[in-house]
Amino acid sequence: VLTEDMKLTVIGCGYLGATHAACMAELGHDVLGVDVDADKVSRLQAGEVPFFEPGLADVLRRNLAAGRLRFTTDHRDAAAFASVHFLGVGTPQVRRGYGVDLSHVESAIDALTPLVRGEHLIIGKSTVPVGTAAALSQRMAVLTAPGSRVDLAWSPEFLREGFAVEDTLEPDRLVLGTDPDDEDDRAEQVITEIYREILETGVPFVRTDWATAELVKVSANAFLATKISFINAVSEICENVGADVSTLADAIGYDARIGRRFLNAGLGFGGGCLPKDIRGFMARADEVGAGQALRFLREVDAINTRRRSAMVELVADAVGGDVLGTNIAVLGAAFKPESDDVRDSPALNVAGQLALRGASVAVFDPKANDNSRRLYPTLAYAQSAVEACEQADAVVVATDWAEFVHMAPEELADVVRARVIVDGRRCLDAAAWRSAGWRFYAIGGPM
Ligand code: UGA
Repeated sequence: VLTEDMKLTVIGCGYLGATHAACMAELGHDVLGVDVDADKVSRLQAGEVPFFEPGLADVLRRNLAAGRLRFTTDHRDAAAFASVHFLGVGTPQVRRGYGVDLSHVESAIDALTPLVRGEHLIIGKSTVPVGTAAALSQRMAVLTAPGSRVDLAWSPEFLREGFAVEDTLEPDRLVLGTDPDDEDDRAEQVITEIYREILETGVPFVRTDWATAELVKVSANAFLATKISFINAVSEICENVGADVSTLADAIGYDARIGRRFLNAGLGFGGGCLPKDIRGFMARADEVGAGQALRFLREVDAINTRRRSAMVELVADAVGGDVLGTNIAVLGAAFKPESDDVRDSPALNVAGQLALRGASVAVFDPKANDNSRRLYPTLAYAQSAVEACEQADAVVVATDWAEFVHMAPEELADVVRARVIVDGRRCLDAAAWRSAGWRFYAIGGPM
């Protein structure tokens, strides 16, 4: 029986895989995490999370100590350890074009499949273009040892960075896609066993085919991206007519069909998922002859990118028309709070654009300074918000970290050269800043 002692492996130990491995151990399973990066593996094995994710280190250490979790670089260990393997490797955007780079998924499959003996199940979690599971399954058929059987299922992951542990242990839904030509329900049995504790809470469990499961994931992210770009598009109108997009979002959000969540206008979306997922979705739609259906996502992407340059213009206005020769403090570099992830970060993009226009930019992020420095080594990085603001002609809030939201205007007042603040996330108390003598600007119209 596949599920005898609920041993499982998780292949790929990045944001997704490391969280999944630790959380599966937290559910009581015996877990082996596998990654080709020896440094990552030894850090995880030592109880150190190689990125910032609230609460994850506790779960990791607790389960390492309990002996339910360990890490390896060797796929042979994985093949011998368990007959159920989650696949959580990265699927970045290709270097040229909008497509998705599946090389990590393919090399994980190629490494593992020939090594396993008996009946195994691989459960893909990575975000992939529709049709990937079917193609991988054919690839696996060639690689499987004679007399063995390796099934493939796809169960997309919906976790948000910053809430990764919570989203894994208390998901909104579980989705499982399997081979539409396969009659038996082994994958469903295995998943039901693995997630028993979660399923007992009554969480919706959507059972479907590979293609639908793959599409669920990219559609969800495309919808979220569209929601953000929708409100940002409306915010462009608000800016031109002096209306307030936040009040507008509150008002439309009271309609339960619309909902207030994910309607925060500002600098827009970034990170390793939404931007590349909408592009990958468009690329795949083209390939399957339905490119026209997703043409609106181009506009979603364009609206999003436009917010970044609009922000740069707003900062220029705030300092009198031109940022050349000014000192600008950029507070926030991560693509969102509670994360150290700077992939496609709107905040860093704005900091970079300001520097290119001749401003002298000092960046401070509570967690992402190191990652930012690797990406933009020419910007200056400060050890605190106050230090970044020294002699600033304008302070730009680019990521809505709680520490910036709750900053006291008085604290910065004597540090800066001019009391000018530009809110890129519409997260500050405008009245409080104004009454402390600051000129206050917000992207998206009056506040
Ligand atoms: C996103 C999805 O929310 C997850 O459900 C999904 O699992 C994940 O991608 C993934 O595919 O792995 P994440 O990238 O962690 O999660 O971040 P989000 O919380 O979605 O935020 C994305 C960006 O949108 C951030 O830059 C954030 O600042 C921005 N945002 C979010 C807004 O500009 N306005 C909003 O109202 C909400």
